[in-house]
Amino acid sequence: MFSRLSIGVAQVVRTFSTSSQNNVKVAVCGASGGIGQPLSLLLKQSPLVTQLHLYDIVHTPGVAADLSHIDTPAVVRGFNGADNLDAALKDAQVVIIPAGVPRKPGMTRDDLFNTNAGVVRDIAAAISRNCPKALVGIITNPVNSCVPIASEVLKKAGCYDANRIFGVSTLDIVRACAFIGEAAGHNPLDVTIPVIGGHSGVTIIPLLSNCKPAVNFPESQVKQLSERIQEAGTEVVKAKAGAGSATLSMAYAGARFALSLVRAIKGEKNIIECAYVRSNVTEATYFSTPLRLGPNGIEENLGLPKLNAFEQGLLKAAIPELKTNIKKGEEFVLKN
Ligand code: NAI
Repeated sequence: MFSRLSIGVAQVVRTFSTSSQNNVKVAVCGASGGIGQPLSLLLKQSPLVTQLHLYDIVHTPGVAADLSHIDTPAVVRGFNGADNLDAALKDAQVVIIPAGVPRKPGMTRDDLFNTNAGVVRDIAAAISRNCPKALVGIITNPVNSCVPIASEVLKKAGCYDANRIFGVSTLDIVRACAFIGEAAGHNPLDVTIPVIGGHSGVTIIPLLSNCKPAVNFPESQVKQLSERIQEAGTEVVKAKAGAGSATLSMAYAGARFALSLVRAIKGEKNIIECAYVRSNVTEATYFSTPLRLGPNGIEENLGLPKLNAFEQGLLKAAIPELKTNIKKGEEFVLKN
């Protein structure tokens, strides 16, 4: 049911069409960073992308020059510094945002709020001026607050469309598939599982009861796996010991999500991804559930899958935290 990242070199098509519906312009904001560079590489590797705009406040000329030597169709351009943000976003159809600071050991995602809230606000304002119809994927943490921030900025600008703004929680699904595949002895590529809620600690709700192929772990192992999925980001932050958070796995997950948006724009049917979006599925006004994607973003919110008692407990624990995170994002835009 869920999409997979399929960008193997063997799949690179060496002809490229010039018809407009086949042209998809993708912009990456924060393209010189730990996530931005490998994410841009994976997007450049895909034959689905025809124009790739790389924006950052530093180093984009070098990153763009480097990637532009790869023999795939996407035309790469670098845009350096705030003065070039508008040009970077002009008429983009997909905008992916991994701009901002990552965690260091001991930090929560919410600790990044003070720095990253302004970064997302400014990029969202530029989106409203240059590509108000773009499908936007926000990777920047805290995702739970950054999606409301971008939404409020676009509302203020009069061009908000809730179907087009996504918090990228794909890494939680990628991790769940990896850990469950390993524990169950399945090829992780054969595992699908919805991970719903938000993207931080207790707000991450893996639904092992909905896993395919079905898994039959004892209760204690379900608990242990669920907690590992919730804390997997912190596992990487600790292992990197001050050198940042997940970048390579996030680039993989971000490319999968971005290319799902691109495929939906190109008219491919039945593309399902979980993402953190405006929602009326629970009491939290933003919430991740499986979504069917189309050319205009969310085609259908597939709603809450069936939850067992343990998962109901996880949901109950997540809602207050989500509400707090959402309110913090919304209030930031009111005050700033
Ligand atoms: P990084 O520090 O390596 O790269 C961030 C990049 O953003 C840098 O190149 C920096 O110059 C750029 N930047 C900073 N301010 C900017 C601005 N105003 N406009 C444009 N670019 C700007 O950080 P990394 O590791 O790439 O992480 C980026 C973000 O992604 C962090 O907030 C991190 O917490 C988040 N993240 C999200 C995940 C998710 O699952 N959604 C997973 C892992 C990280």
